[in-house]
Amino acid sequence: MTRALYPGSFDPFHLGHLDVVDQAAALFGEVVVAVMHNPEKPMGAFTTEQRIAMTELAIAGRKNVTVKAFPGLAVDAAISAGATCIVKGLRTPADFEIEQQMAHTNFAVSGVRTVYVPCKPEYGFISSRFIREIAQYGGDTSSMLPPTVMSVMDEVFPKRGSR
Ligand code: PNS
Repeated sequence: MTRALYPGSFDPFHLGHLDVVDQAAALFGEVVVAVMHNPEKPMGAFTTEQRIAMTELAIAGRKNVTVKAFPGLAVDAAISAGATCIVKGLRTPADFEIEQQMAHTNFAVSGVRTVYVPCKPEYGFISSRFIREIAQYGGDTSSMLPPTVMSVMDEVFPKRGSR
């Protein structure tokens, strides 16, 4: 059975991420969603525990998908999880540019390959960064998040007028 690692910061985990999980779960025997730290994004909005909780709520009911936090490098997480490849979702050509460089670098340093899945077009605009921005101002992010994630989102960032 092939196990794939899907790493990300998931700050927060949104509908585009869930689409990638579902595509990966259909392609691979097992998918480990790796909640990680992106050194490019030091100012996250959610703690590791909150990011794990949201990811677990989002993937609930999927038998071949698990969630785990990993420190350090994605390739080390893949090796320690027993994954033979890394999965990444692509929304845009800009994503491809960044991901391709990471994929080549990860392969060069470890031999771990990366497989891309194309994000569904209707989710291609969704980004965790803009969700964070809208949520921090009390805006409504529910159209971009799995419904099960909203309990954590609303607790951390109450909507305008709700308190
Ligand atoms: O959801 P994100 O923020 O796009 O995920 C980026 C992430 C966490 C996958 C990336 O920053 C990462 O791989 N971090 C672990 C550190 C690492 O492996 N760095 C080497 C990259 S070539």
